[in-house]
Amino acid sequence: MAKPVQSEQVAPHVPVLLAEVLSALAPLEGARIVDGTFGAGGYSRALLEAGAAVIGIDRDPNVKPFADALAAEFPSRFSFVAGAFAELDQLAAGPVDGVVLDIGVSSMQLDEADRGFSFMREGPLDMRMAGEGESAADLVNGLEESELANLLFAYGEERKSRRIAHSIVAARAAQPIATTTELAKLIEKSIGRKPGDAHPATRSFQALRIAVNDEFGQLVEGLFASERLLAEGGRLAVVTFHSLEDRIVKRFFDPDKGAPLQWRHLPQTDTEAHRWVDVAKGTKASSTEVARNPRARSAMLRSARRSVAPARPIDLAGLGVPRFRGAA
Ligand SMILES: C[S@@+](CC[C@H](N)C(=O)[O-])C[C@H]1O[C@@H](n2cnc3c(N)ncnc32)[C@H](O)[C@@H]1O
Repeated sequence: MAKPVQSEQVAPHVPVLLAEVLSALAPLEGARIVDGTFGAGGYSRALLEAGAAVIGIDRDPNVKPFADALAAEFPSRFSFVAGAFAELDQLAAGPVDGVVLDIGVSSMQLDEADRGFSFMREGPLDMRMAGEGESAADLVNGLEESELANLLFAYGEERKSRRIAHSIVAARAAQPIATTTELAKLIEKSIGRKPGDAHPATRSFQALRIAVNDEFGQLVEGLFASERLLAEGGRLAVVTFHSLEDRIVKRFFDPDKGAPLQWRHLPQTDTEAHRWVDVAKGTKASSTEVARNPRARSAMLRSARRSVAPARPIDLAGLGVPRFRGAA
């Protein structure tokens, strides 16, 4: 269904699971779709080329040139709003026919040393997608040792979190930890490095990035906002990049989660109404895509269609959202 996507040739971010996302959203001519994680606009462009009208949302101000280019090319069908997808039902007028979320960082964010996302590039310990609020340096230099350890364990599944937190607290007593490579070297020194394994700082950097950008909070709120914004029959497609996020999406779509509901327009009956129907099995990238784009290796797509049942109030129970503050 997808035509060749020009953004793959000109944009630095290669869209992941693009054909699968398009097929999950099944955009009809004139459908209104919200791309809540615009990035370099790979999904938006493909949706526009399929005939849909697209509202792009991103909280990173650096994506503006990509949005401007699409707005110039599709002036009547593309618009862009800067903001967080947790508020997508306030940023876009509903009801809409589709919402897509491609969670996480873009290649542009990872590749720009100054953003501080990558332990392989020397840069300030920043990691703020929107460029505001607490930075990674604020957390690394400000949290108590036990909180820091809990953060690395809960958000990064780092089993050596206590040892790392202890080394960080010892090092920052001399002077604050300011750069990505300083932190990466400190972690490597603290827990060692086995040949063939991922860099020992991988999990800690993931944990810090998630905390700095409140990524689990955003995901949960974005899912419930999509539930409110989508028309009956509208489709939600979510691509995640690690199991902690995927678990949240999977449980959110679970028809057995939450109390049974009455249908919106029918007299009260015993009928159970689920908010999400046609819940698709998780889809992973093909080996061909992974060979072409290694970033697709851990990607997982989940999608479903909105029923007529009224949207739920936000409820974290049963979603398995990791917490580090107040954790044991
Ligand atoms: C993986 S990239 C998306 C790439 C995009 N699908 C493409 O094809 O170019 C994720 C993007 O989502 C943005 N983002 C992440 N969390 C966000 C949030 N809570 N609200 C809005 N944008 C967010 C990031 O700034 C980044 O640009």
